[in-house]
Amino acid sequence: QRAQAADDYAQMQQVARYFSHQLRHHENSARVIDYLKGRGLSGDIVKQFQIGYAPPQWDGVLSTFGQKSAARTQLRDLKLINRNDQGREYDFFRDRIMFPIRDRRGRVVGFGGRILEGDGPKYLNSPETRIFHKGRELFGFYEARQAHRQLPQAVIVEGYMDVVALAQHGIDYAVASLGTATTTEQLQMLFRATSRVVCCYDGDRAGRDAAWRALENALPLLKDGLELAFLFLPDGEDPDSLVRQEGQQKFSQRLQGAQSFTDYFFGHLIDSLDMSLANDAGKSNLLKQAKPLIERVASEFYRELMLERLAQLLGRETSQLNSHFQRPQQSRY
Ligand code: UTP
Ligand code: MN
Ligand code: MN
Ligand code: MN
Ligand code: MN
Repeated sequence: QRAQAADDYAQMQQVARYFSHQLRHHENSARVIDYLKGRGLSGDIVKQFQIGYAPPQWDGVLSTFGQKSAARTQLRDLKLINRNDQGREYDFFRDRIMFPIRDRRGRVVGFGGRILEGDGPKYLNSPETRIFHKGRELFGFYEARQAHRQLPQAVIVEGYMDVVALAQHGIDYAVASLGTATTTEQLQMLFRATSRVVCCYDGDRAGRDAAWRALENALPLLKDGLELAFLFLPDGEDPDSLVRQEGQQKFSQRLQGAQSFTDYFFGHLIDSLDMSLANDAGKSNLLKQAKPLIERVASEFYRELMLERLAQLLGRETSQLNSHFQRPQQSRY
């Protein structure tokens, strides 16, 4: 098994090198490089993330790496090629900008591919494989750790382009969770590398939903000394669009001023309450929503702070609320 895994990583690395070579040497090269330049990316940053290009043909990876039948089996397992009902094999990624996804040790475990223009889903990601488990990986984590052993802070964003654009502007500690929700495992990985994590998702409905789910997943990790904050972007913006408009300094100021998780916690719960806090029913509802979440918080200090805030909102003394709360179960984290 271990030999096979080693071979899988080697194959993925070869394919990443192939895509990166195609970026510079394919006949579409000028068009692809123009696109990347148009998005504000320098050659250095493209090299640093080993951004590549999957050529348009159906058998780029297939004919380059799949001469032998055993190799084709492996390429299928790694989801680099597909096989249709007629048994015909073809490349999974075609005519896309390729972002290699590395694990924390720098091994390529998957790819994200962005369409240049035209039809089709904007992003295509490697499906899970025996070496790629999305909830456990963070795009950009390895690159950030190359820049800083201990990160000054970590910024979690939604997209590949957000990570790369932030790095282009000197904010070289951003990572993207792959797919929608940021998992407890991913947050744990970040809190081992830094004590401050800022969630900064897109300024849209999906981004706001992602923020709340990240908060819920972070609660069991919030030990003393750790800081979780939330930066909400103006409607329609994402970190890429904003850092390109505003530059590093303003974006960094936004990061410094990000909302504490406790402010966001109560703000969100009150906003989503369909009753007024002026009514007893509204108060009892807030208590009902907040209680199970507060009980999940790892730090006793944070729990106390949240209890005090809750008591204030309910017009009670903290001591009056204490009986409603139990000590949290021993957390796994
Ligand atoms: P967005 O939908 O916010 O991408 O998805 P975007 O900002 O418009 O993309 P750009 O800036 O034009 O390139 C953010 C992330 O969600 C995932 C990808 O990881 C993407 O980077 N995503 C999005 C997908 O996996 N598939 C999709 O079809 C769209
Ligand atoms: Mn998995
Ligand atoms: Mn979005
Ligand atoms: Mn976006
Ligand atoms: Mn974008």
